[in-house]
Amino acid sequence: MADTTNVGSFEASLKRSNEVRADLAVHPEKYRMLTGDRPTGRLHMGHLFGSIQHRVELQNAGVQTMVLIADYQVITDRDTTANIQDNVYNMVMDYIAAGIDPEKTPIYVHSAIPACNQLMLPFLSLVSEAELQRNPTVKAEMEASGHQLTGLLLTYPVHQACDILFCKGNVVPVGKDQLPHIEVTRKIARAFNERYGNVFPEPVGLLSDAIEIPGLDGRKMSKSYGNSIMLGATPEETAKLIKKSQTDSERRITFDKENRPGVSALLTTAALCTGRTEQDIAEEIGDAGAGALKKYVTESVNNYLAPHRERRRELEADLDYIKDVLHEGNRKANEIANATLEEVREAMGMVY
Ligand code: TRP
Repeated sequence: MADTTNVGSFEASLKRSNEVRADLAVHPEKYRMLTGDRPTGRLHMGHLFGSIQHRVELQNAGVQTMVLIADYQVITDRDTTANIQDNVYNMVMDYIAAGIDPEKTPIYVHSAIPACNQLMLPFLSLVSEAELQRNPTVKAEMEASGHQLTGLLLTYPVHQACDILFCKGNVVPVGKDQLPHIEVTRKIARAFNERYGNVFPEPVGLLSDAIEIPGLDGRKMSKSYGNSIMLGATPEETAKLIKKSQTDSERRITFDKENRPGVSALLTTAALCTGRTEQDIAEEIGDAGAGALKKYVTESVNNYLAPHRERRRELEADLDYIKDVLHEGNRKANEIANATLEEVREAMGMVY
């Protein structure tokens, strides 16, 4: 089997991403966006700035959008589904609070969409074991998990291809780490179409041009680092977390990512929440020191998140509504998945 996984260089992906970004602005109706998250915990500001706000923009620009909560992906690299129901409900709350409108954007879980998962069988026949073994994201996740490579983790790019192609998604907003999966998805679509006739688009990964909000220690914001400001946290919890973040002994506040990761992360956080620049804020705080900076960051974050958190509290009080949103999202996703699987069966001559 010809292996073309590595043909898609980063430059080529970036070029496609830029072309699609330009075209999206003119012809939003040509695009169906599919993207999603794993329900491994609560969502934080990194998710909000890094991906959710971008989804909301695409939704509001008239792109057909779908948001997947990838529950089966939780067990690619961990061996428990503890708290999964709670995580899923809370994700729906944060999505809606952030502006995802379930009337426009179905929110669904892939475990509830059998026809999506059934695409896995024909798709598995279109990839080789070697190319899956080589996938850098699979390798990285296997190493991070400390587990043996499970069949599910090895085939992670293939079930992600099912997620994307079941609805003929042609644009997938992703971080760089997910690009190898988009390449596999494109390859599967191409190989299927060549073998059985044209059914699937070749989706393009849309790389975010948003500034990444750092975690409070300057590393990537990640729940496992304990450096994350959770969207659902109270203002008091947020204040406490910011207060105990690590700065340094230099009193004067300056923006210097290399040498002052803690101070600089706080400045970027405040900058993103207020629309000001880091330098501007640093100058204003000046010799007032880290205490004053933390106070300013806390206020900026809590003000910025106040409307989100207020909507979230209302949604928390109405779990029946959250369940309805998911059931309706699942119903729509099933309709789409069944139609696609029907086409796949027909293309393959499996009509009896
Ligand atoms: N793998 C993605 C992540 O870990 C989540 C995901 C699952 C996804 N299915 C997807 C993203 C389909 C984009 C498209 O973040």
